[in-house]
Amino acid sequence: MEVTKAVIPAAGFGTRFLPVTKAQPKEMMPVLDKPTIQYVVEEAVVAGIDDILIITGRGKQAIERHFDKSYELEEELEADGKLDRLDRVQDIADLADIHYVRQKEREGLGDAVQYARKHVGDEPFALLLGDTIIENETPCTESLVAAAEEHDSSVLSLERVPWEDVPSYGVADTEEVDPNANSFPVNDFVEKPPRDEAPSNLAITGRYVLKPEIFELLEATEKGVGGELQLTDAIRKLDTVRGVELDGDRYDIGNIPSWLEANVEMALKHDDGDINAAVEAFLEGRDE
Ligand code: UTP
Repeated sequence: MEVTKAVIPAAGFGTRFLPVTKAQPKEMMPVLDKPTIQYVVEEAVVAGIDDILIITGRGKQAIERHFDKSYELEEELEADGKLDRLDRVQDIADLADIHYVRQKEREGLGDAVQYARKHVGDEPFALLLGDTIIENETPCTESLVAAAEEHDSSVLSLERVPWEDVPSYGVADTEEVDPNANSFPVNDFVEKPPRDEAPSNLAITGRYVLKPEIFELLEATEKGVGGELQLTDAIRKLDTVRGVELDGDRYDIGNIPSWLEANVEMALKHDDGDINAAVEAFLEGRDE
């Protein structure tokens, strides 16, 4: 099988980041000089995928504007001779073929994924949450696509989280994981288990490759926790699911400490020496 399409759900409300998210989508929250969703689109593109469907909703128009051509801005930058900035603006619009569909009601991640059915058709697809940035040496989606194509299976990215955080996640039930294996079979998932009932601390992290069977399974799934259609409930019914253990950094931008961490850590790694020197100096100054 070959993965040629990606779906990015971005229709959530972002209530944990109010009031910022009252009039702007949380996926447009900047991390350094780029909005979060641009990092997500770039991760799909690096994995060789240039057909991307973003699931939006009410109040999310800024996302479409960001990936659109901006004639006035481009003319102005050209006239002012700011050609490096012009390149950066043009590159955004040329990143990929981006399509949009609107989720009518906010009825859960599973419901949002259902809106991709017509666009995706009978093909496997990558699914990347629009509010999660993953920094990994091999980009996460690239590893998932490789594992999915090798094993002809749906694959999820999993991360070892601290045991006290396990009750906030969907957690994998697996055999002993071979540390040298690129991917491993997963028997089942448990949604938000109490710590002492959790089968592992391997948590679902917001990156998936799913086979198209997921659409029928979602249709046959009842609404679950919080009255929402839960994607994990349908994933549990897939014939085979594999996991890839993530060893990089994951930032859930919808939560303020994680968003701040993303800005600081990514500034320290930024290829603009002035930026990382300034942040490093600031942090060192605070230690004294
Ligand atoms: P969250 O659980 O983070 O919910 O969604 P949220 O509404 O975005 O944020 P909070 O909890 O109110 O702060 C996880 C992912 O699923 C998408 C979100 O956009 C996010 O990428 N999602 C969730 C949808 O697209 N539609 C939904 O109905 C629910």
